Amino acid sequence: MRLLIAAIALTGMAFASSQALAADPLVIKFSHVVAENTPKGQMANRFKELVDERLAGKVKVEVYPNSQLFNDDTVVPAMLLGDVHLAAPALSKFGKYTSKLQVFDLPFLFKDLEAAERFQKGPAGEKLLTSMTDKGILGLGFLHNGLKQLSASKPLVEPADANGLKFRIMQSDVLASQFEALEATPLKKPFSEVFTLLQTKAIDGQENTWSNIYSKKFFEVQEYITESNHGLLDYLVVTSDSFWKGLPDDVRSEVGKALNDAIAHGNKIALEKAVNDRRRILDSGRTKLIELTDEQRLKWVEAMKPVWKQFEDEIGKDIIDAAVAANASS
Ligand code: SIN
Repeated sequence: MRLLIAAIALTGMAFASSQALAADPLVIKFSHVVAENTPKGQMANRFKELVDERLAGKVKVEVYPNSQLFNDDTVVPAMLLGDVHLAAPALSKFGKYTSKLQVFDLPFLFKDLEAAERFQKGPAGEKLLTSMTDKGILGLGFLHNGLKQLSASKPLVEPADANGLKFRIMQSDVLASQFEALEATPLKKPFSEVFTLLQTKAIDGQENTWSNIYSKKFFEVQEYITESNHGLLDYLVVTSDSFWKGLPDDVRSEVGKALNDAIAHGNKIALEKAVNDRRRILDSGRTKLIELTDEQRLKWVEAMKPVWKQFEDEIGKDIIDAAVAANASS
């Protein structure tokens, strides 16, 4: 009888522990700095939905937007420690880990998002996904946000208008040189501080996409936006190489597929937001739009383009040439 009771108790324990296992899915934490109504915010949320649908009970995604968990300076070290598993910093924020991704910061490199996409999907772009594996960082895919505009507290029509002004930039030496070429002062600051810096007039301006300018309300504290389309703000979705390799094969494959589908969704949103958030900002009447003539735009190109030569050796001429070639439609 005692034996029977012990056997029943053991079976019960085994059942309880298998229940506990079933109730303990693998958690993937995804941390980012932007609002949810942005291409990256929507991509992260779609990724969570797809994983919930396709890997229910096995894997659970937790999304932390708006720098709630980490900002872009701290997220990659946190990821390498295993405190978070996915992040998608702007390509400008990887300078510490590789000089190759700096190609994306070269001013006036891509004529539009389609050209950036052709480069990212081509052999030179694909190779960049693994450009940081020696540091334990693996790129899983590129995601678009859009082309950057210049916002400021004074009208920027000609490059000389930026002389002496202070601009917030992302953590990028190329972007620093771009503003130094205008005889302006660049300040590397986290995204989470930009609104306050602009509002308190600690800085005069910044560069960003229509979607970030809208979702973070920069347009409410900047009198002018120059539609310069002078640079790209895209992302690299990254994970830690060891985390990724440690996933069971079937889980890694399904998570990878869900991520690719979510990126495709985010890219669609990016194209829509470049039009709709621009319109929302202009409709608000809070800021004045400066549209450049071809002649004025050429002056900005001439002022900023010397930065290319400065970084050619660090980035690699072959990578720059491949990016330029992507401007010719296939
Ligand atoms: C982001 O889009 O993730 C942030 C961009 C920035 O830091 O300006």
